[in-house]
Amino acid sequence: MVAEVNRFSEAKQAYHPGGSHVRFLLNPSLVFLCLACAAGVPAAIAQSAALPPPVTLTADQDHQNMMDQLGIQALRPGPSGDENAPNHANYNESSANPFPNLPDPLTLNDGRKVTTPGMWWNTRRPELIEMFSKYVYGRVPKNVPTVTWTVTAVDHEMIGFTPVIAKDLIGQVDNASYPAISVRIHMTLVTPARAKGPVPVLMMFGRAGFPNPNEPSGDELEKINAAWKALLVQKDPSLQDVFAQHPAWQPVKATPFQFPQLNADGGLPNTWQLVADGWGFVLFDPASVQADNGAGVTRGIIGLVNKGQPRKPEDWGALRAWAWGAGRGLDYLQTDPAVDAKHVGIEGVSRYGKAALVTMAFDPRFAMVLVGSSGKGGATLLRRNFGEAVESLTGGEYYWMAGNFMKYGASKATFGSMTPGDIPVDSNELIALCAPRLTFISYGIPEKGDAKWLDHEGSFMATVDASRVFALLGAKGLDVDGDYRTAKMPPVNQGLLDGQLAWRQHDGGHTDAPNMKYFIQWADKFIGHGPPQQ
Ligand code: GCU
Repeated sequence: MVAEVNRFSEAKQAYHPGGSHVRFLLNPSLVFLCLACAAGVPAAIAQSAALPPPVTLTADQDHQNMMDQLGIQALRPGPSGDENAPNHANYNESSANPFPNLPDPLTLNDGRKVTTPGMWWNTRRPELIEMFSKYVYGRVPKNVPTVTWTVTAVDHEMIGFTPVIAKDLIGQVDNASYPAISVRIHMTLVTPARAKGPVPVLMMFGRAGFPNPNEPSGDELEKINAAWKALLVQKDPSLQDVFAQHPAWQPVKATPFQFPQLNADGGLPNTWQLVADGWGFVLFDPASVQADNGAGVTRGIIGLVNKGQPRKPEDWGALRAWAWGAGRGLDYLQTDPAVDAKHVGIEGVSRYGKAALVTMAFDPRFAMVLVGSSGKGGATLLRRNFGEAVESLTGGEYYWMAGNFMKYGASKATFGSMTPGDIPVDSNELIALCAPRLTFISYGIPEKGDAKWLDHEGSFMATVDASRVFALLGAKGLDVDGDYRTAKMPPVNQGLLDGQLAWRQHDGGHTDAPNMKYFIQWADKFIGHGPPQQ
């Protein structure tokens, strides 16, 4: 009992560092705690009463809070995406490279060249992981709580012409340290029902849930309808006559066959393509890990670990939190016999394209990635000035990143000012962190809506440069002439798919769907997999 009381005291003191002992003793919640403790109330519940509720800030207030912590008085405003606005983003290639020299993935921080795989694995990769954590995406806290997965329901469905088993899963994060915030990670695992063994799986950031719920059969529907009608008559006896006049009418009908929503290129939906080829997929809901807004950073997994308080400058942003969540999803997949856990990939588009790349870069257990239209903070170079800017990521999108990242958008601060040229790392190195695993960088075209804002050229440059790290590790990067400054982007629809690092710009919009079939074939080739024999 004494030990319990001491634990409460520590918790209390942590939140009232200036509080005197006397005030402490008179604090009514402590009185409650002592009573609760004496009454045998579990420690976690009692302790939570001692912790303040989560801080509620608007995104603007949270942004300002981080500026204050960093000593930033002013940030350069981000450009407008509207080409007709006076402050529109730069779309002039001749002024797109104000910092033309990229940080070199193959030079150690002490200036030595990385010449062997050993130097990469033992020294350079850890250096890059540290710098990306500290300055760009933030750190995953050491004390992040454990996740317990539960299969909440199993459904036998059809995806296209393939029978599948769909499992809906909740990953409950242990919140004993701060019960005011509950985090329940939601994902759905779908695997082909007739698979002969474990299957490769592509985890996709987006909405989770049963993709094609199996409906009651005709007989079952009849029972449901009889019950419905009886209930309705109970509620309103005059309905007896109505039903008698329309004996064939049924309140619940089987859903008529619906043709699937085709991909923009007229192809079958990604999920159909995957299961037809013998893959499984996971629908992984990032919002169940961390909200996609600045007001949410005192909630979700970030808020839970911080006990509802605002972030510190090196704390993780939403991209790293989503990536962490995907990793916990992979923990589950490693325990599911339907899954070939050595061949699990991660996929996302746009902000989730960034998240997919971050996931792959930090968690070496992921075997492959399809990075869709990821732009700044993803595959494109932070140093480039074309379309979306670092100043966009330090403005409205700041919560995706570590607080520290804001420094690179500062025009007036206690440390002076900084620019994108001061960022110690760049996206060529983020892509390099995926080496030698299968990494597919995908884009569409501006004419169809994959905006120039995304900076396709800057992503290509980064991919070209990352190729050197793939080569050092015995894999193959992009097969192009020249280096990142001189290599020419291949024409649209002409993929560079020979190596473990691949590039393809399709002729569709802001989606990776038209590249899915190329991704599947390319990945199959490297992992020695193919469509099931019928
Ligand atoms: C904005 C944002 C991008 C992001 C995109 C999206 O355009 O600037 O960084 O990728 O939204 O996720 O839809």
